[in-house]
Amino acid sequence: MLLTMSTFTITPDSPWLAPLAGYSDLPFRVLVKQYGCAVGCSEMVNVKGLAFKNSSTNRLLATCPDDDPMVLQLFGAEAQFFEPVMEKLVSLGYRNFDLNAGCPVRKVLKSGSGVKLMEDLDKLVNIASIMVTRAAQHPDGGRVGVKFRLGFNKGENVYIDLARRLEDIGVDWISMHPRYGKQMFAGKADWRKLALLKQAVSIPVIGSGDLFTAEAGVRCIEETGIDAIMFARGALYDPSIFARYIALRKGEEMPVRDGKFLAKIVREHIRLTKEYEGDGRSFRKIRSIIPRYAKGLKGIRALRGSLLECKNWEALEKAATIISDLRPADNLSDETDVDEICQ
Ligand SMILES: Cc1cc2nc3c(=O)[nH]c(=O)nc-3n(C[C@H](O)[C@H](O)[C@H](O)COP(=O)(O)O)c2cc1C
Repeated sequence: MLLTMSTFTITPDSPWLAPLAGYSDLPFRVLVKQYGCAVGCSEMVNVKGLAFKNSSTNRLLATCPDDDPMVLQLFGAEAQFFEPVMEKLVSLGYRNFDLNAGCPVRKVLKSGSGVKLMEDLDKLVNIASIMVTRAAQHPDGGRVGVKFRLGFNKGENVYIDLARRLEDIGVDWISMHPRYGKQMFAGKADWRKLALLKQAVSIPVIGSGDLFTAEAGVRCIEETGIDAIMFARGALYDPSIFARYIALRKGEEMPVRDGKFLAKIVREHIRLTKEYEGDGRSFRKIRSIIPRYAKGLKGIRALRGSLLECKNWEALEKAATIISDLRPADNLSDETDVDEICQ
């Protein structure tokens, strides 16, 4: 049966979930949709893995009606794999695609993909063009975005040139994390370059980078004039960041982030993980994620200890209720640092 996939309009009031390898899986995308996320990007999926029907890669394709609209992000450096894979994905019903030209991790760079593509714009544009042509064969019209950084090496500002070329070949939107590839996550995201990018093209520009709070999201939109933002690490700590952002944009009260509120999020994340995945691997993964939601509350260490003792879903659900009774910490020494996620 063909998947039913909607398209979307890109607006400042429709925040996205950024692609997050290891995290923006189906349960998490459905969770953040409940808190106002407009579009969820999948984890990056290796095109070569899809071409060779690698089962661990295929797992990343999971979707469902509550995940709609979603964007499937692909990565790879060999154009010949994109043709057949896009054809197959479109025939299954996938409609919205993204090309990863921003990932700086060593494993991805070694294969010439991710942000390494920014060193060879002809190759990057050629791959994007194959995706655009194939996506257009979706009966309702497919759409393609490209996510990139400023350039590969520090100071190599190829992003404007790249963006104009992508616009010319019919790419529907672009998203940029304004750091250089070699920079990884060091220093600050340079939002001023998002403003320059927005002025250079007419297709929608989505911004990413250091959007750890709803306030940062609102500021980024206001300071740069871009069309939309995507939350990444900020959503991993607080899946309700989307609702906070929307409330702030409207001048409404943001939900109070206390133990009870967080416990509800955790319970739902456990439920969705059990429903959509439910295997041992997903159990261990969600068990390790839960303490992050309790950031800023007193007693995370004890919570972590109780969670580690859990051997089944029922025990996990019970242990997670501890969060309801946690109070804000006097100081944030108990905090987990955001940077620990990107290592
Ligand atoms: C754990 C992790 C995994 C990521 N995976 C991807 C990915 O698969 N594809 C991608 O384009 N970007 C990926 N990114 C980059 C994010 O989408 C985002 O652009 C970046 O984290 C900057 O936003 P932030 O500073 O608000 O977190 C990843 C980032 C992190 C921290």
